[in-house]
Amino acid sequence: MRIRTLEDYTTAYRKSVETPERFWEEVAETFSWHKKWDTVLDYSFEDYSVKWFEGAKFNITENCLDRHLLTQGDKKALIWEPNSPEEEAIEFTYKQLHEKVCQFANVLKSNGIEKGDRVVLYMPMIPELAIGVLACARLGAVHSVVFAGFSSSALADRINDAQAKIVLSSDGNFRGKRIFDVKKVVDEALENCPSIEKQIVLKRTNSEVTMKEGRDIWWNEEAKKADTFCPATIIDAEDPLFILYTSGSTGKPKGVVHHAGGYMVYTKYSFENVFQLRDDDVYWCTADIGWITGHSYIVYAPLLAGSTTLMFEGVPTFPDAGRFWEVVDKYKVSIFYTAPTAIRALQAKGLEFVNKYDLSSIRVLGTVGEPINEEAWDWYHQHIGKGNCPIVDTWWQTETGGIMISNMAGVTPNKATFATLPLPGIQPVLLDAEGNEIEGNNVEGNLCIKYPWPSILRTTYGDHERCKQAYFSTYRGYYFTGDGCKRDHDGMYRILGRVDDVINVSGHRMGTAEVEDAINQHEDVIESAIVGYPHEIKGQGIYAFVICDENSTKSKEELQKEILQTVSQHIGAIAKPEKIQIVSGLPKTRSGKIMRRILRKIAEGDVSNLGDTSTLLDPEVVNEIKEGAGL
Ligand code: WTA
Repeated sequence: MRIRTLEDYTTAYRKSVETPERFWEEVAETFSWHKKWDTVLDYSFEDYSVKWFEGAKFNITENCLDRHLLTQGDKKALIWEPNSPEEEAIEFTYKQLHEKVCQFANVLKSNGIEKGDRVVLYMPMIPELAIGVLACARLGAVHSVVFAGFSSSALADRINDAQAKIVLSSDGNFRGKRIFDVKKVVDEALENCPSIEKQIVLKRTNSEVTMKEGRDIWWNEEAKKADTFCPATIIDAEDPLFILYTSGSTGKPKGVVHHAGGYMVYTKYSFENVFQLRDDDVYWCTADIGWITGHSYIVYAPLLAGSTTLMFEGVPTFPDAGRFWEVVDKYKVSIFYTAPTAIRALQAKGLEFVNKYDLSSIRVLGTVGEPINEEAWDWYHQHIGKGNCPIVDTWWQTETGGIMISNMAGVTPNKATFATLPLPGIQPVLLDAEGNEIEGNNVEGNLCIKYPWPSILRTTYGDHERCKQAYFSTYRGYYFTGDGCKRDHDGMYRILGRVDDVINVSGHRMGTAEVEDAINQHEDVIESAIVGYPHEIKGQGIYAFVICDENSTKSKEELQKEILQTVSQHIGAIAKPEKIQIVSGLPKTRSGKIMRRILRKIAEGDVSNLGDTSTLLDPEVVNEIKEGAGL
């Protein structure tokens, strides 16, 4: 099953396209199941439905934990490095992690959680977040982790959409020099969340909190009372494992639903092969478990593979910009996986922070989340990998569950800024605007996938129509990724970025509609339009064009400041626009559609070629916006 040479890759890829069911069935055989599947695959991309390994009975946590107990129970499963280097790290062997997960599963059970119930987690990057996730899976409950930087109203939206019964939180969160009041945010959200019965609170910062009688209980006190063994609830491969909310081009974030069996098979398969995993690897992915990268490649895949996964609570620049490299040195990390935005930020701080540490343990580097630019790739390659570590540029999405296009470390070729080649089982195609497949090499088009893979999303929670609409309606019979892509003369894929109204800020997806809705909540705002523009560190920054009430008594500066606060309140600080320009009108077509193309050009500072503006309702508005932008 393991790919170790270029020839293995070619053979596996061919097989995965010629006989996909046979191919995935063989991979699935390597997991532990209580009962095998009745059918390998049943699907339709026309009227979207996908089922992998239906009828198979299992529990993913038995594959992550129990199956390793006999052979490597004392191997380190999880290493946790705290925010402050002064604080002691914590390590869990497979045996210890198994106990912790079982114990907390018992806590959830005694608080009424059963198979299929939804549990929301809003927590810092502490071991209990991973333990909470796995404890849900142990019971067949559906977890929905919400990144702890989202605001209370964003959290409430997600809890309500998922109709969650329990929320897991902490008193506070250490990040760099700052302490955040996690529980206060959750308490505020819960004022509008009638489905929540209990909040289970982990003590982390010893911040002052108020516990609501009958609703709020302490994690540790509950855990003390609970047994350290909990039988796994046996579920079907096609039962849901988790919901993860993500932004799209329209409306509110949608709850992407992943089902347990296919997700397990694909995440482990992709992990071992892309990173060319070895038994003694210490693997570190710097993502937050609040995003898909953390779900698949901090928690599930590394544990499924019986590896050692490192989890870091802090930020790359605390106490200084050498922290990542200090941690690599401390634990002799051999596989390091991060985002281009972090690479660029650290590159800007200078080499003195890198050269203080011994990075010779690193064997494989990885990047994810956004296109990586050549300068960042070179710096990463030369200064972190010392010129001799492969860099896997892994392209994938919340919806795909696992890595889709990437080189395999040292096996298939690297190519700076290219995700390179599809993994076995993945059939990418480039489509033109009319939906025709673009054949041959040296071409560009919209990236679609034409055949299901085991970890493809199954639905969007509570609204299957929306799932069909968002992913399977643009091009009939294909999964549409929303990304533009180039296939070069060697047949290698290079992701060019989103072609829909999604902006990628520091590797985080933001829907334009979502951010505009938040801005429009300000009482003096009449209308707004946001676009992305190239940003040196973040990849893309948000540029907002806002029409405010003429009668507002506030100054421009006051309005800008308040609009930022409004966005923080409704979504979270991560969605704050970099620039806000107050304008008196927006470029609209006669049918009232905002011409974002023009705004994008202005935001980029390039007005040499604004294209045809004659179809605009009021072409004069463009000149005014240009002037306002100082162009
Ligand atoms: C972008 C993150 C270029 C892409 C795993 C995609 C990338 C979106 C890469 C998904 C990459 C992710 N190169 N672009 N290696 N990886 N993207 O759902 O636009 O947070 O559609 O999943 O990030 O973001 P998401």
